[in-house]
Amino acid sequence: MPAPPIQLSEAWFDAREADRIAQALRGRVAGNGPFCLKVEERLKRLLDDRRVLLTTSCTHAMELALLALGFGPGDEVICPSFTFVSTANAVLRVGARPVFADIEDRTLGLDPADVERRISPRTLGVLPVHYAGIAADMARLLDLARSRRLKVVEDAAHGLGARLGGRPLGTLGDAGCFSFHETKNVTCGEGGAVTFADAGVAERAEVIREKGTNRSAFLRGEVDKYTWVAEGSSYVLSDVLAAMLDAQLDKLEEIQVRRARLVSRYREELAAWAHAHQARLPPIDPERQGNDHLFYMLLPDEETRDRCLAGLRARGVMASFHYVPLHSSPYGRSLGPTGELPVTDRVARTLVRLPLHPRLSEGDVERVVAALKQALP
Ligand SMILES: Cc1ncc(COP(=O)(O)O)c(C=O)c1O
Repeated sequence: MPAPPIQLSEAWFDAREADRIAQALRGRVAGNGPFCLKVEERLKRLLDDRRVLLTTSCTHAMELALLALGFGPGDEVICPSFTFVSTANAVLRVGARPVFADIEDRTLGLDPADVERRISPRTLGVLPVHYAGIAADMARLLDLARSRRLKVVEDAAHGLGARLGGRPLGTLGDAGCFSFHETKNVTCGEGGAVTFADAGVAERAEVIREKGTNRSAFLRGEVDKYTWVAEGSSYVLSDVLAAMLDAQLDKLEEIQVRRARLVSRYREELAAWAHAHQARLPPIDPERQGNDHLFYMLLPDEETRDRCLAGLRARGVMASFHYVPLHSSPYGRSLGPTGELPVTDRVARTLVRLPLHPRLSEGDVERVVAALKQALP
């Protein structure tokens, strides 16, 4: 019987999540309940003591961040085209316009020089993505933002636990947004979080998140009844999902140890092969402490990449590309011309992601590597 396929990513659940969910079911299950508050406190400790609000997704976390920071119709937000659709959708949902800029070859994050070229009188913010949990060039992006009075919202969907110069990703700009989607290092199926630099903005976000009411203040006993105080929406995470996150946070260290072990195994097994095949592995940079969220390779050209993906899949290894650049997607094209994004186009044509998740064994890594060496001998 052939071995089962090796999945690109898989969540790791056991009795700990089931127990915690059972506990949540015995109490309140709406949002902003005891597990939500507990998990927000735990995340706060991981995120330099910044106020954290749980949300239903990272997409919603970004919408909420942009709304709380005052983005709206007429504003432009510079973001990468090399990203998941959510980054640009969040901008569009608040009525603003995404302006796509190129990425840097080294970090696969926004290129500050190209961002600067795309600033217009309407630009209000920059939305960098920390691809694979590797920090974008935040020193230059933050300098630029400061000098041009732009707000910075970090799409740290991949970035929980990763750092830049010791500082957690998601705490470097005005707001940072995280994902707990099933593919992320810590997951509750679908979920997210947002963190803010400014306590006043966080308070505004708390109201927007609760349908424009001051229910959060009411739950803390600060007002004796709650009412409609602003325009809002519904972005609170159910306590059942927060209970799952609580169990996942208990396992965070184990998850990270497993991921790190698998990544170092990939690196050992692939170093000589990568050199011989002009393939680039993710950068090792002491300033950028990653979280081993994704393991990717950049191959020399598109034909080699496609051969690699087909060869791996034929051998039961569910490797994948990343992303269709947003400016070249059907909807992205309908938003108007973007101009040249040469690094984005090249990276999207040549990138392969290899399976990486906490249920993978070192034997699985050997199988992936053997399949890769057969696909591209
Ligand atoms: C860079 C990036 N931003 C945002 C998201 C959206 O996250 P969510 O599914 O939690 O909305 C993703 C999802 O994978 C992503 O890769």
